[in-house]
Amino acid sequence: MEFKFNVNDIFKQPIVEINNNLIPPGFSGDRRALWDTLGKVSEVVNTMGEASAVAQGLSKPITTAERLRNSEHKLYFLIDQAANNGKGAVTGMLKTGNKGLYVFDRDGQHYQVTPPCILDFYIHESRQRTGLGKHLFEHMLQKEEIEPVKMAIDRPSDKLLGFLNKHYLLNSPVKQMNNYVVFDGFFPKSAEPSHVTESKPSGNLGRKESANGLQKFTSPQGRYGAPRPPCSMGQIIHNQTTNNKNQEPTGVKSLPATNYQGVHLGGAQIVSQ
Ligand code: COA
Repeated sequence: MEFKFNVNDIFKQPIVEINNNLIPPGFSGDRRALWDTLGKVSEVVNTMGEASAVAQGLSKPITTAERLRNSEHKLYFLIDQAANNGKGAVTGMLKTGNKGLYVFDRDGQHYQVTPPCILDFYIHESRQRTGLGKHLFEHMLQKEEIEPVKMAIDRPSDKLLGFLNKHYLLNSPVKQMNNYVVFDGFFPKSAEPSHVTESKPSGNLGRKESANGLQKFTSPQGRYGAPRPPCSMGQIIHNQTTNNKNQEPTGVKSLPATNYQGVHLGGAQIVSQ
């Protein structure tokens, strides 16, 4: 994608990373230069976002300068510095970010996760299928120190599914209700260390910690995280008296294996010490 201005003046490397301040790496200059640069970066973001939306058949762009400014997402731009008579051209864009998601594995087991996600990905039509997508994707994997299988993908196109299959042998996507897609290796292995507590499909209060540390599982929040009054059924099961208010646990807890008893009640695992 070519622009009226010199792309090489604002993007000084073949791959640049932009975040919510929209300032390109290596920028230096006064206030006026900063405003000028921010205007040009916004134009690049909006133009690439629009082209990506058209390529994916979306009714409106999912990547805009405005949205980037209000997010924790990262944008990687691929630059052809020699194009456009040395003024440079932007040939690709990849957007990543962490999202709080509920995902189901093939057995219907659900997980509350905040994984890194592929949120948008576009290579200019004139350069597709020449290896640029792989080049940009590999750069991102290195920067974010992540394996593709540990990422969730937002509404992948058939082209992207083909891309992931070809380059990373990711096939048989596990499609989610929220339009995200994950692959089998996304989920922790079934033989988890015994200190892990997991929720069953019908409960939504649980948390599960991944052995590989790449997935962040969050604890119950809001009303689910609030202290609860004693549950007499739990106390009867655990042979406790009903007048000690401190003995009822809050939500689902993850505890050392040597120090808990677990009971399945209504799908969620309630744990007491
Ligand atoms: N049809 C089918 N598969 C395609 C494809 C197309 N038009 N373009 C790329 N692919 C897949 C194929 O597996 C291809 O391998 P092949 O040529 O041997 O069949 C592989 O990607 C090529 O890899 P690479 O050259 O590194 O990818 P790329 O530079 O073409 O980038 C995309 C891949 C998906 C980013 C790019 O095709 C694109 O921008 N598509 C339009 C926007 C889009 O669908 N984005 C995904 C958003 S979720």
